[in-house]
Amino acid sequence: MPDKILNTRPGRLIGRVQVPGDKSISHRAIMFGSIAQGETVIENILQAEDVQTTQSVYQQLGVKIEATDEHLKIQGRGFSGLQEPVRALDFGNSGTTLRLSLGILAARPFAMHLIGDASLSQRPMARVLEPLGQMGLHISNDAKTLPLNLEPNAQLNGLDYVLPVASAQVKSALIFAGLQAQSATNIVEPIATRDHTERMLTAFGGTSLRHDNTLTIQPEQTLHGTTLQVPGDFSSAAFWLVAGLLVPDSHIVLPKVGLNPTRTGLMQLLEKMGAHFELTDVLHDSEPMGTISVTTQTLQAIQVTEVDIPAVIDEIPLLVLAATQAQGVTEIRGAEELRVKETDRIQAVTQELRKLGADITEHPDGFTICGPTPLHVVNKTQVDSHGDHRIGMMLAIAALMTEGAVNLSGSQAINISYPRFFEDLATLWNE
Ligand code: S3P
Repeated sequence: MPDKILNTRPGRLIGRVQVPGDKSISHRAIMFGSIAQGETVIENILQAEDVQTTQSVYQQLGVKIEATDEHLKIQGRGFSGLQEPVRALDFGNSGTTLRLSLGILAARPFAMHLIGDASLSQRPMARVLEPLGQMGLHISNDAKTLPLNLEPNAQLNGLDYVLPVASAQVKSALIFAGLQAQSATNIVEPIATRDHTERMLTAFGGTSLRHDNTLTIQPEQTLHGTTLQVPGDFSSAAFWLVAGLLVPDSHIVLPKVGLNPTRTGLMQLLEKMGAHFELTDVLHDSEPMGTISVTTQTLQAIQVTEVDIPAVIDEIPLLVLAATQAQGVTEIRGAEELRVKETDRIQAVTQELRKLGADITEHPDGFTICGPTPLHVVNKTQVDSHGDHRIGMMLAIAALMTEGAVNLSGSQAINISYPRFFEDLATLWNE
């Protein structure tokens, strides 16, 4: 795998960066645009490998999707207008595309063969297949991971279901299936997860009803194409938030970042650690967004438990990095989901940050981090993304604080969600 040499000279981060469009919202916009009636225009869609995967899956299902530099135009066909693909549907590295699409594909009157890359083929799908099976989906090869053979299916039943894992992907699959069922579907979420699917359902003219932690989806809703503006991805902004806090003398401004509270857990936890962020130009649309400004600050250790996890799930590698520089002992527990992400992120974060001198103990469900520890390079330290975009970017931020160069292998994984990452870093970096 090609290497990237990181941080050969000391510097600070100064300036303004517009992070790319939100990945979770971009996937959903293509899916809703495809199953709605009429034209959908998506502005600021994320142009990265995972979203290209979603685009190509729905094109193979017969949806006309046209991309220009400014936007993506989709000619929606309704659920029943989706066509039998001529080849296997390839979900690449994208768990979100696969899990959410299973809810859409669960009631298609034709068979389908679903495949993905080596990482996705190891990730657990039973969490979606079990409830969808109760609704009426059949998998002819009886598999719980890719490859999957979906049998033709004409009918789904409504379902009452308590989510056993706090997963927005499972919830969203059941929302899509519920829209096609014969009766209402009730989904109970013991711990709240990101609500982009519910918000976008409303933007396309549909409804869902929330009562405490139960979400009800009525079938037979007509969805209409619309125009959507995708906010900047908070998960991409998160790299600059942590870098801005930790790299001495930095000041970073991030305009038009998504501020959906089910996603911004990292900001709240960093505030508990003593950080302050300035929020300006906040807009409350279907998805809230605003400008976040950050300057270098000192941090204190905190305790993070299961209830905190869903709103910070993708940013935990960065939270661990922040904790290595905080005063005291930080505990992060209840995060066992990290073991089944693009790689085992508990193992990968511990192994790679230890190479830079961090004091981290791994637990089955999280970490104990003792800080602050200066990060350093021992003989041209080689770190590895483990083929995981978020691990690769977190290590690139860690390398900004080391003295001397760090070699990152597997840096191309970053193209999954943030292809411009190193360009944005070069814009901000001042020697
Ligand atoms: C996502 C939900 C989260 C997150 C993933 C994207 C989504 O996964 O980790 O990167 O877009 O719904 P889970 O819902 O499985 O926790």
